[in-house]
Amino acid sequence: MAGERRPVYSGRLPIPVPRSPRHHAPRALVTGGAGFIGSHLVSALLDADYEVHVVDDLSSGRAERVDDRARLERIDVRDGVALTALAHRVRPEVVFHLAAQVDVGVSVREPALDLRVNVEGTINALEAARVAGARRFVLASTGGAIYGDGQTLPLDEEAETAPLSPYGQSKLAAEGYCTLYARLHAVSPISLRFANVYGPGQEVRGEGAVVAAFTGRLGEGERPRVFGDGGQTRDFVFVEDVVRAMLLAAAPGEPGILNVGTGTETSVLELGRRVAELCGVPFDPEYAPARTGEVRRSALNPERATATLGWVPEVSLDEGLERTLGGGTEASNERRQGIAAQQAQSASTPPVQTM
Ligand SMILES: NC(=O)c1ccc[n+]([C@@H]2O[C@H](COP(=O)([O-])OP(=O)(O)OC[C@H]3O[C@@H](n4cnc5c(N)ncnc54)[C@H](O)[C@@H]3O)[C@@H](O)[C@H]2O)c1
Repeated sequence: MAGERRPVYSGRLPIPVPRSPRHHAPRALVTGGAGFIGSHLVSALLDADYEVHVVDDLSSGRAERVDDRARLERIDVRDGVALTALAHRVRPEVVFHLAAQVDVGVSVREPALDLRVNVEGTINALEAARVAGARRFVLASTGGAIYGDGQTLPLDEEAETAPLSPYGQSKLAAEGYCTLYARLHAVSPISLRFANVYGPGQEVRGEGAVVAAFTGRLGEGERPRVFGDGGQTRDFVFVEDVVRAMLLAAAPGEPGILNVGTGTETSVLELGRRVAELCGVPFDPEYAPARTGEVRRSALNPERATATLGWVPEVSLDEGLERTLGGGTEASNERRQGIAAQQAQSASTPPVQTM
C-alpha cells in the first residue's frame, strides 16, 4: 500500500534465540501476524533468525504488512483442523498467539462471536502447539480489560480479575486454558497481559487504539474525540517494548502470567495534549458519551516481568509518541507539516483588531 512502511524492529536488548538441538533456525508460528503487534513481532523474530510462519484470516490484518521473509497462511483460528495440520507440518518450537477479536464494543454486541474467536481460537492454537511438540506458547492477553476497577494501582498479577466486557472475559478464559495446558501437557504457556499498546502502524480499531485515534485525527487536522470526561487513565506501552517482552518470553521457562506495562498512569486528556503538542496544533477535543465495558483507571506493575524475564519498558511515552508520529503516512505527515506552518505564520501575523 502506498506510504505504508513495514515495521522495523530496533530493540536494544540482545534477544536470546533458543537454538534447537538440531541447529536449524528456530521456528515460530505467529497467529494474528498480519495485525498491528503481530507484524512488528514477525519482523523482530526474523531479525533474530527465526523461521516465521504467520497465520491470519486477514479479517482486520493486512497481508502487505507481513514481512516478505515470513510465510503467510490465510487460516481462521476457529478452524482447528487447518491450524493443527499446519503446525504438524511446520513443527514450531514456539507459538505466539495474537489472533483475536480485539474490539471491546463488538464483544459487547456479539459476545458469542468474541468467545468463538478468542476462546475456541486459543484452544485450537494450544492444541496445534501440543501436536507440534512446541515447547513454548505465548498468549497475547490483556491487563487493560481483565482487572476490576477501583483497586490500588499499579496492579500486580494478584489483583482481582473482574472483566467489564466479554472481550476481557474471553481473554481471562483463554489464560485459564493456558494454565490448564501447563498442568495437562508438555506445552509451557505464558500469558502476557499487555497494557495499552501503541506505536507505528496501529489502526483505529480494537483495544487501546486511543493513541492511533489521536495521532490520526490531529494529523489530519480534525478534532480528536474523547469518550467520557477524558479523566480515565491508561498505561501506554510502546510496541517495541511489548515485542521485546514476547521474544524474551519465548525462551524455555516456567508457565505463568506476567504484566507487560510501564506502571505509569496517563489520562486520556493528558495524552491528547501531548500528541497535540507534538503535532504543533491546539488540543480542542470533542466529547462523546463514555463507552461501555471500559475501566476508569489502569496501570500495570511490571515487576514480575522484570524478575522473570529481565524485561523493563525502555521507551518513554514522549519518545514513543514521537516515533509513532514519525511512522505516520506520507499524507498525514504532510498535513501535519502544513498545519504547523500555518500556525507559525498566523503566530507571526499581527492580530486583526476588532471593535
Ligand atoms: N493493542 C493493544 O493495546 C492490546 C492490548 C492488550 C492485548 N492485546 C492483544 O494483542 C493481540 C494483537 O492485538 P493488535 O492490537 O495487534 O490487534 P490487530 O487487530 O491489529 O491484530 C489482530 C490480528 O488477528 C487477526 N484475526 C482476527 N480474527 C482472526 C481469526 N479468527 N483467525 C485468524 N486471524 C484472526 C486479524 O486479521 C489481525 O491481523 C490481540 O490478541 C489483542 O487482544 C492488544
